Formats: sequence, C-alpha cells, structure tokens
Amino acid sequence: MPDYQTSPRTHTAVVGLQWGDEGKGKIVDLLTSRNDVIVRYNGGANAGHTVVVGTERYAVHLIPSGILNADKMCVIGNGVVVDPEKLLEEIDSLRVRGIEVGDNLRVSDRAHVVMPYHKVHDAALETVLAARAEAGGRNLSIGTTRRGIGPAYADKIHRSTAVRMGDLLDEGRLLERLSVICSLRTAELAALGVDAPPLDPAALTAKYGAFGRRLASHIEDTTYLLHDCHRAGRSILFEGANACLLDIDHGTYPYVTSSNCSALGIPAGTGIPGALIGRVYGIMKAYSTRVGEGPFPTELHDETGHRIRERGHEYGTTTGRPRRCGWLDLVAVRYSAMICGVTSLACMLLDVLSGLPELRLCTKYRLPDGSTTDRFIPDAARLAGVEPIYETLPGWSEEIVDATERTRLPENARRYLDRIETITGVPIEIISVGPERTQTLVTT
Ligand code: IMP
Repeated sequence: MPDYQTSPRTHTAVVGLQWGDEGKGKIVDLLTSRNDVIVRYNGGANAGHTVVVGTERYAVHLIPSGILNADKMCVIGNGVVVDPEKLLEEIDSLRVRGIEVGDNLRVSDRAHVVMPYHKVHDAALETVLAARAEAGGRNLSIGTTRRGIGPAYADKIHRSTAVRMGDLLDEGRLLERLSVICSLRTAELAALGVDAPPLDPAALTAKYGAFGRRLASHIEDTTYLLHDCHRAGRSILFEGANACLLDIDHGTYPYVTSSNCSALGIPAGTGIPGALIGRVYGIMKAYSTRVGEGPFPTELHDETGHRIRERGHEYGTTTGRPRRCGWLDLVAVRYSAMICGVTSLACMLLDVLSGLPELRLCTKYRLPDGSTTDRFIPDAARLAGVEPIYETLPGWSEEIVDATERTRLPENARRYLDRIETITGVPIEIISVGPERTQTLVTT
C-alpha cells in the first residue's frame, strides 16, 4: 500500500462558486494540459460545458470536457448520475467530429442511472408545483432542468429502487429490479397526473441492457482506477458540475440541485480523499447569473441586467433558458471559496462589463431587522429577505477582448479585480476576456 500519510497533495479541483455556468469548461480545458486524468464527481446531464477550440464549439453534458485531448483519461465517477442514452449520444456526436472516445473514457460501475421515468417524474412534479400559482397559491417548483436528476438521486438514497451502471451489464438482475420499480413508478406517475401506459420492465430491460452492452468497455470500478493513477504519480483534475451555491447541503436550499457540487463532493463522488487535493480553482463570473427559481439578492431587472445577458450570451447550454443576471455578489463568492477551500480564483467574462459607466460589488447584506452581515445565508427563505449593500466602482469604456496581460488592462478593470481579491482574500490567477482559448490571462 502507498504511504497515504505522506502522500503529496498533488491533485487539482475546479469548482463553480456561484449558481453555475461560470465557464468551468474553459478552465478545465486550460488545466487539462497540466494533468493526466480528468474526473467528473457529481451531477448529470443537467450540467453543460461549452469549449471553443478555433472555429469549433463543443458542448458536453456528461463527459468531462478533457475528452477533447485524446491522450487524457476521462472518468465519470460514482457520484454522477448517468443518463446512458444521453451519454451514447454525446459519444457519437464527438466521434462524428473526429474526437476519439474509446479507452480514454471510463465510467464508474457504481454511478447511478437516470431512467426515463426519472425524467417524466421530474417534469410532472415541476408542473404540479407550478400549477399551484395558477390556482392562486405560491409557485413551489424548483425550476429544474427536467433531466431527471432529483428523482435519480432520490432512488440512490432509497436504495431498493435504484439502478447503477453495473446493473446494466446483467440483464437478469436488471429485469428483477425493474419489475418491482416499474409497478411502483407507474402508480406514482399516475398520482402526479401523468397519462401514460404502464411502464414495461421487459421493454426497459431490453433497451437499457443494449445501452449497457454498448458502454460495457467503459464501465469499471473507477475508485481503484483513480487510486492506481494516484500511486503511479499521475495527476488528477476534478471537474465540478453545477456550482457551490447549488450544493444540496450548502447551497440556497431548496433551490439547489441534488448533489454535492461544491468541492466537498469530491471524496464521496470519486473515492479519493480530500487530503490529496492541493489546488482548488474557484471559477466565478465578473457578475452573477442564475437559472431557475430561487433567491438572487443582486439580480437586476433593468437595462443593465438586459445588457449583461445579451453581451454575455446568458442563455442556458442545457435548456436554452435566459439566465437571470445581476451584480457580482462577493458575500456569496467568499462563502463558496471558504466551503470549497479555494486556493485561486478564475474571473470569467470580464469583457462583458466593458462600457458600463459604473460597477457595483455586493460586500454585505442588510437583514430585515436593519442589521448588516457579511455572512452568506444558505437558506432560500431567509436569503430572499436580504438587501444587498454595494460598493460602487468606476467602469471602463475600452474593449478588453485583445488584452494579453493583467497589467495592460484598463486601470478601472484592474481596480475591480484588486477589490475582488481583497474582499475574498483569494488571488485571481486566471482572467478570461473572451470565449477563445487565447483570450485567457494566466498569472501562474
Ligand atoms: P436540477 O439539477 O435539474 O434538479 O435543477 C435544480 C436547479 O439547479 C435548477 O434551478 C437548475 O436550473 C439549476 N441547475 C442545475 N444544473 C445547473 C447548471 O449546470 N448550471 C446552472 N444551473 C443549474
């Protein structure tokens, strides 16, 4: 056995510090060249990473974006919920574009499967909850991506109604499980108002067994695989999906996703102890966005919010929904950096702010009783009652998309970045000024 007590903290993590869509894919792509193995540890096809290489734009949902580099191993860890149909679509669409997907993609046999009834359940529950609003009640829907994420994780916790990737490789076992699951789920879906024929265990077994056969060469025990890589001295990059404020335990509950998407999810979602991770990159936009429901203290409903949405192309990669936009909330970012143990920040989409006469940074919240706090409130109902307290900084008019060094940025842009560092206490080591790989200022 290796001496884990003295193992160096060699591995790296990339996590989003806001409500998702911070541009993690671009940073993972950048850091991929410095690492050997790229690992997803949470979430499912609710995430969407876009990477632009030259004139080509790649959107991946389940496969780590490191797949664009053929010599890297990409791993989907046990903490991910995998929709095999979507995974196969993604593999096929990458192969059509000449990207190799073979031995370089490994999927945990213990990752849970998103089944079709999970997606139907997700959408039906959201519809029922949203319909309350039409009847004069409060809309209690979460605004999910309807990708079946919550119901799949719920089954993981239920245990008796779960299906894991390894189960797809044994049709006898799969049929046995699905026979029970289908009768229970048919009744539950009917109770949610779904008008559909009963779920058919034999048909589902045939379809998902076939997916299993196609994916068989990728499915294995990834925990031992990752420890073997660690012992062999290979460096691992953990790629967070979704983001810290959507973490099931530490986010703005209940308006969160169903996994631990902060860096705290890495050990449980991969089997690699947190003590082996030495660097954590926290990815943040130069402003804030959110999709779906939930509190957002710095949200802008005015022309500035509209301008940020259009300049930043703030429409969802996964669902196409327009994102809610607002000023940078540093109370939230500082909290996420604390939870994730962030060692350096990447500030994305700084170019989107060019041309705004002044910029605001939220540094504190005013509570309903008039007192102030610089602590985040990871509870939706209480967070909805705060008022942001801003520091106002002058903006810059110059376009910065061609900037090559931080020191050459307009003075007010540098001042904005300096304030972020001072308030969060974390150095900004990467600044992104455009979607291209080349539009990235790296200071380490
Ligand atoms: P779910 O993950 O589909 O259950 O959605 C729960 C909430 O998380 C919704 O508000 C989604 O919009 C949000 N969400 C989930 N994944 C992402 C992401 O990758 N980016 C941004 N929001 C996300």
